[in-house]
Amino acid sequence: MLGLDRVADITRLERLKEFDNHELVSLACDDSNHLTAVIAIHRAHPDVPSFGATRFWHYASSIDGVKDALRLSRLMSYKAALAGLNCGGAKGVIISRGDPYTLKKAVRDRLLRAYATRVNLLGGRFVTGIDVGIRQEDLGTMSNASRHIVGFNGNSTEFTALGVFESIRAALQEVFGDGDFSGRSVAIQGLGKVGSGVLALLYEPVGATGKIYVADIDPSRVESTCTAYPRVIPVMPEEIDAQQVDVFVPCALSGAINTKNAKRLQAKIVAGGANNQLENEAVGAILHERKILYVPDYVANAGGLIAVFDEYKHPSYDRARVEKAVLHIPETLRKIFAESRAENTTPNKVANSMAEQVFNNYHDS
Ligand code: NAI
Repeated sequence: MLGLDRVADITRLERLKEFDNHELVSLACDDSNHLTAVIAIHRAHPDVPSFGATRFWHYASSIDGVKDALRLSRLMSYKAALAGLNCGGAKGVIISRGDPYTLKKAVRDRLLRAYATRVNLLGGRFVTGIDVGIRQEDLGTMSNASRHIVGFNGNSTEFTALGVFESIRAALQEVFGDGDFSGRSVAIQGLGKVGSGVLALLYEPVGATGKIYVADIDPSRVESTCTAYPRVIPVMPEEIDAQQVDVFVPCALSGAINTKNAKRLQAKIVAGGANNQLENEAVGAILHERKILYVPDYVANAGGLIAVFDEYKHPSYDRARVEKAVLHIPETLRKIFAESRAENTTPNKVANSMAEQVFNNYHDS
C-alpha cells in the first residue's frame, strides 16, 4: 500500500532541486483504485490552461516519480514557449506498481478513470493527454470521466514523430551541409509510439545504403519492428548508444545522455523524441566540446503538444494547419544552432534562455 506519507513528504517538496518554484503540485493516493499520481503545474498562464501529457510508469521509488513529474512539467513550460503556444507547462505522472502495460484491462480502466476525476478537481487549469505507458485507446476511458483530456484529433504522436524527423533533417543540414537522409546511419532507442513513428518516416529516405539500428527493452517490439522493416539492425538496449552512426535518436525515457555515455558516444548528432534526454547541463557541455550537435529535446518533440493545443483552441480539426505549425520547428532550431555557433554555447542553454524570456514575460504580466 502506497500512502501519501510514502510518496513524498510534502513539506520538503520545495527543497528538491527539481522543484523550481512550481505553481502547484498535487498528489492523489487512492488505494481502492490502485492509484498513486502526481500532477505538477510548473508555469501557469493567467488565461490559458497548463498542458502536459500523463505518463504511467513504474519507478524505483515513489519520490523518483514525483521528481520525474517536476522535471517533465518544467520542460513543458520550455516546450510551449518555443513552440509559440501561450499555455503553461504541466505534467501528470501515475506511479505504477508494476509494468503498466501488463495491468488487467478492468483494473487499468478503473485506475485511469480515478485519475481523470482528480484532473477534474483542478477545474480545467490542467489539460492532459498521452505519454509513456498510456495508449491512444486509453484516451476514451479517461475522457469518459473528464473533459480535460486531449489527443483525439488525428494521432498527436504522429506529429511528435514528424517534428523529430524534421529536426533530424535540420541537424543534418547544420552538421553536413545538406539535409539528405540517403545513406545516413541512425540508432533509434525505444520503439514505442514516437520511436516507431520516427522509424516509419526515416526508413525509405535512409534507403538501402544507410543503416538503421534499433533497440527496445521489450523484445516483442523489436521483433515486430524487424518484421515490418526488414532492413533494421536490432542491437541490445545497452549497446544502442554506442553505435557508430550519424544520428542517435533517443525515443525512450529520460537521461539517455548521461555522465556514463556522453564521453563515448559515437554519433555526430543527438536528436530524438524523448523528454529530458540530458541527465544534466554538464552532459550537454561534454557533447558541445566533442562537437556532437545536441538538438534540444523539447524543441524537436513539440509536435504532439502543438497538435493537442490546436485541438483545444479550434472546434474543428485541420490536419494541414497542425502540420504547418509543426514544420515551423526546424526554423526555431536553425536560430538556436546559429546562436550556439556564434556564442560557442550549448544549444540547450541557448534554447533555455530563449524560452525563459517568453514564459517569464507572461508570468510577470
Ligand atoms: P511509449 O511508451 O509508447 O514507448 C517508449 C518505448 O521505450 C517502449 O517501447 C519501452 O519499452 C522503450 N524503452 C524504455 N526504456 C528503454 C531503454 N532503456 N532502452 C530501449 N527502449 C526503452 O512512449 P512514447 O509515447 O513513444 O514516448 C517516448 C518518449 O518520447 C518519452 O520520453 C516521452 O516523454 C516522449 N514524448 C512523447 C510524446 C508523444 O507524443 N507520445 C510527445 C513528446 C515527447
